[in-house]
Amino acid sequence: MSSQKPRVVVTRRLPDVIETRMMELFDTRLNLDDQPMSQSALIEAVKEADVLVPTITDRIDLGVLSQAGPDLKLIASFGTGVDHIDLKTARQRGINVTNTPGVLTEDTADMTMALILAVPRRLAEGERLVRSGEWHGWSPTGMLGHRIWGKRLGIIGMGRIGTAVARRARGFGLSIHYHNRRRVQDSLEEQLEATYWQSLDQMIAHMDIISVNCPHTPATYHLLNKRRIDLMKSHAYVVNPSRGEVIDENALVRALHEGRISGAGLDVFEQEPAINPRLLQLENVVLLPHMGSATIEGRVDMGEKVIINIRTFVDGHSPPDRVIDSMF
Ligand code: 8YV
Repeated sequence: MSSQKPRVVVTRRLPDVIETRMMELFDTRLNLDDQPMSQSALIEAVKEADVLVPTITDRIDLGVLSQAGPDLKLIASFGTGVDHIDLKTARQRGINVTNTPGVLTEDTADMTMALILAVPRRLAEGERLVRSGEWHGWSPTGMLGHRIWGKRLGIIGMGRIGTAVARRARGFGLSIHYHNRRRVQDSLEEQLEATYWQSLDQMIAHMDIISVNCPHTPATYHLLNKRRIDLMKSHAYVVNPSRGEVIDENALVRALHEGRISGAGLDVFEQEPAINPRLLQLENVVLLPHMGSATIEGRVDMGEKVIINIRTFVDGHSPPDRVIDSMF
């Protein structure tokens, strides 16, 4: 990269304060109409850019990366998940990748907890009832849900977000169980009074609520498949604030329709933004438009991280949030 300002292409609108700062620091091209870029628009972008700033709505695949110009040296993604980027090809082509971990942990954990509360307590159904004008007053048996306190929460993926969910869940009287590639430190397990399940199948079979908090990787694609969904107790719930691909959505929809599990809270979907129409027919699901990290504070913090990653990289240092494909 020359001593000129780096050419940075940002694929979606970011908070004003971030765009303004980027315009000051870099030779920045913004996407003012905020339409997700097509594959051909992405190819044009990577041909000319020194740095690409994509989001989850961009598929940075082999087709795009193989067209990258010689100057593209950094993909500074706005977001933590990197499943929209072909990391292996990026590495092979000498393109660095960074993400924005940490700053959206608490917001995403809040949203996970919101789903954990909303589904068994029928929050969205109750809201729909009031809005429909069909609520005729309190009754002893009206809108009965299920108690949260005293139930078992099984967290799949005890990373930053899973841990933050566990901390919150303890305040609601849930006992913490988890499955993770690696067992967490003893001190953390003790703090959370968490039970480690080496066998995901065993854990699933014993939980009242399951929370999916692992990233989407080749190893976690359809981790909750039909066989595992069938292991769930019939009174159990599942929430997913992570990635739609971690659950076999068709199998989940069938289990919900057949009453084999009690409900689901989904912030993410397999074919976003398309929603399986059969999900929309169900009362016992809460469906959100991928808004787990959608706070103003979070999005500004994410933007700051993107800027720091670009700045340190351009200054010749290893950026703080460098993603190595072997991490996934
Ligand atoms: C982001 C997310 O807002 O960071 C992630 O991995 O899932 C979201 O919360 C989105 O991915 C931004 O690209």
